[in-house]
Amino acid sequence: MKKTPIDCKFVDEAINEMHIADLSKATIREVKAIAAKAEALSGIEYIKMEMGVPGLPPSAVGVKAEIEALQNGVASLYPDINGLPELKQEASKFVKAFIDVDINPEGCVPVTGSMQGTYASFMVCSQCDEKKNTILFIDPGFPVQKQQLSVMGEKYETFDVYNYRGEKLRPKLESYLSQGNISAIIYSNPNNPSWVCLKEEELKVIGELATQYDIIVLEDLAYFAMDFRTDLSVPYQAPYQPTVAHYTDNYILLISGSKAFSYAGQRIGVSCISNSLYNRVYPGFAKRFGNVSFGSAFIHRVLYALSSGVSHSAQYAMAAMLKAANEGKYNFLKDVSIYGERARKLKEIFLRHGFHIVYDKDLDEPVADGFYFTIGYPGMTGGQLMKELMYYGVSAISLDTTGSNQEGLRACTSFIKDHQYDQLEERMQLFETNNPII
Ligand SMILES: Cc1ncc(COP(=O)(O)O)c(C=O)c1O
Repeated sequence: MKKTPIDCKFVDEAINEMHIADLSKATIREVKAIAAKAEALSGIEYIKMEMGVPGLPPSAVGVKAEIEALQNGVASLYPDINGLPELKQEASKFVKAFIDVDINPEGCVPVTGSMQGTYASFMVCSQCDEKKNTILFIDPGFPVQKQQLSVMGEKYETFDVYNYRGEKLRPKLESYLSQGNISAIIYSNPNNPSWVCLKEEELKVIGELATQYDIIVLEDLAYFAMDFRTDLSVPYQAPYQPTVAHYTDNYILLISGSKAFSYAGQRIGVSCISNSLYNRVYPGFAKRFGNVSFGSAFIHRVLYALSSGVSHSAQYAMAAMLKAANEGKYNFLKDVSIYGERARKLKEIFLRHGFHIVYDKDLDEPVADGFYFTIGYPGMTGGQLMKELMYYGVSAISLDTTGSNQEGLRACTSFIKDHQYDQLEERMQLFETNNPII
């Protein structure tokens, strides 16, 4: 038995205790629990890269506004079901300032995090046309969104974008859309877990096909403008966050407070529905929602039923953060650019010790350094690599759980501390020695 930084018996005991038959299918929470247990048993610190939680303090602008709102008594009042007017205004300005898209304040709808935004979107999109009963995922993706559909009893299809970048994307998408059962397409950009960023030409294809087949695009911008290869931080000035909104009118942009503003705990985001989609009345709505527009079905039927709006004070926080960003007083991307710096250093260590980046390119360009990156090791499946790295005090999740067909792991940079680069270097040196590449 090779000597590893964490005694194998501790890791094996932690895994056995969780009763996990196939480690490659372990959820983020299970991996976190195994790492915590092995850390406690061994007394050796883990380099934790499994959770996608912001590792930074919350935006001070948001906290201040929220405290003031609470002191002004908003906690006793139900928030407007359409959303706080100031937030709707600022969200409309934000999409203009940072994406160069015109969406009326009416269509900018506060939600309790993007999670609620996708849940509500799935519910409404699934009712537009009874023949269109399936959501298409451009994977890899965020597993909980598929869980949302399972909870609703709705269908989905998925493909791994790995082999379908650039011009290969159109025929692949058409092979699904031409079946006539797809109501909406969803993807995140930048992507969780691969940090792939779809290029303009790919977004154009998605947009054109959405119009041609009359389907809705759910563009998940949870990692808004965090492609640090380009400075997207200056309001009302190019370059902007790339978007499908420039190529179709059938879209919802899901903007989250969680990562860009480190505001995950307050569960706040804004779902921005295009002007034409907001006003459209789909015949399929009559049965469940009545004769209402898409926007009204989203807000007055679904959101009203789900949570009757969004925490009042969190809406004040989000309004203040967006306002400060719109006015150029608060460069929110500067706060989170640390994730990119961490990814660059971590990737360099892994690459030097025989690892490779699994999702390595956006067409001809290396992927950006950001919140996540993907790693593989020759001759190991994602599940094997995940278990092996546990013995070296490194925890990350297998790509298996994300709709990816590739062998490897997703590593998240958010919890990395400064002293851990040396730790990782030392441990990966040993890993390489113990696992020679043949
Ligand atoms: C791609 C993606 N979408 C949505 C979310 C959830 O966002 P929120 O916290 O706004 O619900 C996450 C969080 O990890 C994510 O990675």
